[in-house]
Amino acid sequence: MRIVITIGGSILLKEYDSKRFEEYAEVIRQLNQEHEIFIVVGGGKPARQYISVVRDMGETESICDEIGIQVTRINARLLQCALKDIAYPAIPTNFQQALEYSATNKIVIMGGTEPAHSTDAVGSILAEYVGADLVINATSVDGLYDKDPNKFDDAKMFTEVTADQLMEVVSDNDTKAGTYEFIDKTAIEIIKRSSIKTIILNGNNPENLITALNEPIGTVIKN
Ligand code: UTP
Repeated sequence: MRIVITIGGSILLKEYDSKRFEEYAEVIRQLNQEHEIFIVVGGGKPARQYISVVRDMGETESICDEIGIQVTRINARLLQCALKDIAYPAIPTNFQQALEYSATNKIVIMGGTEPAHSTDAVGSILAEYVGADLVINATSVDGLYDKDPNKFDDAKMFTEVTADQLMEVVSDNDTKAGTYEFIDKTAIEIIKRSSIKTIILNGNNPENLITALNEPIGTVIKN
């Protein structure tokens, strides 16, 4: 299978610790034995911190986004270092480059592309562009809940939703730089039009990525 994995920066950079990158590298190495893997890395806390500094300087949201994109590329570079020579040694800045680099049979790792969306959207567009069979979105929650599980004990997780149902749930979310919460709307639009199966799961345990290929886990977005 051709699989696009998006890993939230908040997962990789919870602590500034090489161990986390190496744990991910090990799981990706395993997946790479049977599958063709593309990875998109998010910005996490460092992106939000940099964005808040430029926003305080009165810069536009697009410039804040551009700073966020630079941070996602640094994070992508760190994962590339952890994967050593099985990763392509450059970070593509657009989808055509990503496809070109993948012709080497190395794992392609990228961050953001352009303003006004998050790396969730990059993952969905990349999946559409390279004709992926599956997107796995490693995030900091177990999946999509009907209400906030941190506030409500009776919150229930959806095991499956359609792109339209998901859009309804996130429609009140903010679209400012550094503030995409669960998944961004552009990503949902792309999931809808491409019909590529997407699994949102908890990336705090990297092994969940392997589990996702063998049994139900997290929330599956299907059309
Ligand atoms: P992320 O995709 O990491 O956003 O990009 P996020 O969801 O807030 O963070 P985590 O990683 O899931 O915790 C960080 C910021 O970079 C900009 C946006 O401002 C985004 O919030 N960005 C990223 C873009 O403008 N375009 C991109 O293609 C990617």
